[in-house]
Amino acid sequence: MDNVTQITHPLVLHKLALIRDKNTGSKDFRELVEEVAMLMAYEVTRSFQTEDIEIETPIAKTTCRMLSGKKVAVIPILRAGLGMVSGVLKIIPTARVGHIGLYRDETTLKPVEYFCKLPQDIGEREIIVTDPMLATGGSAIDAIAMLKRKGAKNIKLMCLIAAREGIKAVMKAHPDIHMYTAAVDEKLNENGYIVPGLGDAGDRLYGTK
Ligand code: PRP
Ligand code: URA
Repeated sequence: MDNVTQITHPLVLHKLALIRDKNTGSKDFRELVEEVAMLMAYEVTRSFQTEDIEIETPIAKTTCRMLSGKKVAVIPILRAGLGMVSGVLKIIPTARVGHIGLYRDETTLKPVEYFCKLPQDIGEREIIVTDPMLATGGSAIDAIAMLKRKGAKNIKLMCLIAAREGIKAVMKAHPDIHMYTAAVDEKLNENGYIVPGLGDAGDRLYGTK
């Protein structure tokens, strides 16, 4: 699929292996998720526009390139998406941050909305939605639909691990977005968890059960 990019940089792969390891505790898990998000943001922002800017170095005047396109909003899907925000902000420190609260009902696996707070000028911004896990795709589909209802247009979705069926579902529902993931896993188990995945991302980030 043209608008799905798998980011396979060696540093991303290495850190993702550590993230997947069940013996990685919450402190290291949080730090690694932040680091991978920062590395992925480098690729996610590759299409951003730049323009010529005249500057003066201590030696001479010169023409350089600087960002010229739309401003950015990072929108984590709570809770687990929050773990990726600080990594993105490390390289885009002026981005606004909106929040969408969704959790997956454990029985139906359908997303339930509980919070939405977005920058007012969401329609004028490049949107980077963060969520480490894309399983059935239901949460991302609903979050992106919420964003579109509020006027968002340029949407990129950034995940760490996506199940094949989740990718298909998101792309069917929102063919206009671009999606980035570090891994594509084969299947979901009977409880809707990605196999091999990394377990429950929110619980591993925050030490809950
Ligand atoms: C997880 C994950 C995604 C969702 C993926 O969140 O962070 O948001 O599940 O599943 P889906 O693609 O089948 O919708 P969860 O509902 O566990 O909430 P949490 O982040 O608060 O733990
Ligand atoms: N949410 C998670 O946190 N992990 C999965 O494997 C699926 C959904």
